[in-house]
Amino acid sequence: MVTKYLKIDDKNRDLVLEEAASLLKMGEVVAFPTETVYGLGGNALDKNAVSKIFEAKKRPSWDPLIVHVCSLEMLNSVISEKPKILEKIVKSFMPGALTVILPKSEIIPENVTASKNTIAVRWPSHPVALELIEKAGVPIAAPSANLFNHPSPTTAQHVLDDLSGRIEMIIDGGEVSIGVESTVLDLTADKPTILRPGGVTKEDLESVIGIVRVKTNIEGEGFKSPGMSLKHYSPKSKLVLVLSEKELKEKIVKNLNKKIGVMLPTDWERIEGIEIFEWGKWGDWEGLAKKMFRGIRDLDKKELDIIICPLPLGEDLGSAIRDRLLRAAA
Ligand code: TXA
Ligand code: MG
Repeated sequence: MVTKYLKIDDKNRDLVLEEAASLLKMGEVVAFPTETVYGLGGNALDKNAVSKIFEAKKRPSWDPLIVHVCSLEMLNSVISEKPKILEKIVKSFMPGALTVILPKSEIIPENVTASKNTIAVRWPSHPVALELIEKAGVPIAAPSANLFNHPSPTTAQHVLDDLSGRIEMIIDGGEVSIGVESTVLDLTADKPTILRPGGVTKEDLESVIGIVRVKTNIEGEGFKSPGMSLKHYSPKSKLVLVLSEKELKEKIVKNLNKKIGVMLPTDWERIEGIEIFEWGKWGDWEGLAKKMFRGIRDLDKKELDIIICPLPLGEDLGSAIRDRLLRAAA
């Protein structure tokens, strides 16, 4: 199949969204922007459409998808229990970069949730995503629009690089604003539990709902989310993580016989003779999150032996960056 690539602008907006929505209604899959990363969407109520998502991404069937909604009514239609805390969460964080895990309703086919009795639901805020779901009129199952285990796509070009010829359409809505995926928050546990740190921080959540646990398989107390396997987001080059500017210099000196790329903070000393991705100011976690996957993809295209990257300690959005980098280097 030839993938249709459509850049959306004020003039063609309605036409593009109509065309994409009609593909979704016909059971096809379409890539679209959200504020976190690009998603690969299909009708969440149609098990054949959902299989096409798994196939296009080469994603194993045990890894459940996130279902995207555009209204409270649609949210209520895919879940079967509404814990009290949900109302507060919806009010403060939806639409936005938060995914909640709740018991699923019967309208959701088994392959969406990998046969689990819970469902991951997200109400994104990106206007293109919202309008697309509205026009399709059904909840949209959508994982990140990358090949399984590749870094997540933050531009439509990244989607094209991974999925050209494998999906019907890509809507180019420009670079995403957040750059890391949504926070996955489990509301079926005794205490709200973060299974994946992401666009909404633990600090943000705690300011509204009180103490939140963290339970990823990298940090915290063991894990529950099938897709959070230790190794993920991996570049072809070996990824080496460092904790300081000093350690970065030592690693470079040690590897001078190799082709090196560095995700270099813009306020760290410039280095001659190696490939550099100008990442952003160290400590500006929002700026760094937005460009992280782009940087890893850009450097990985240069066929390097190693990519060296500083690792944040993990406050605010720094914890999502830290999580992705630890997985990518695992
Ligand atoms: O920002 C995002 O969340 C993006 C955009 C497109 O919305 N989507 C995304 O989807 O990152 P994906 O499929 O790449 O990651 C979804 C994660 C997986 O790790 C999966 O295992 C987990 O959510 N998940 C889905 N359903 C679950 C469930 N019922 N229980 C626990 N974890 C679940
Ligand atoms: Mg993903």
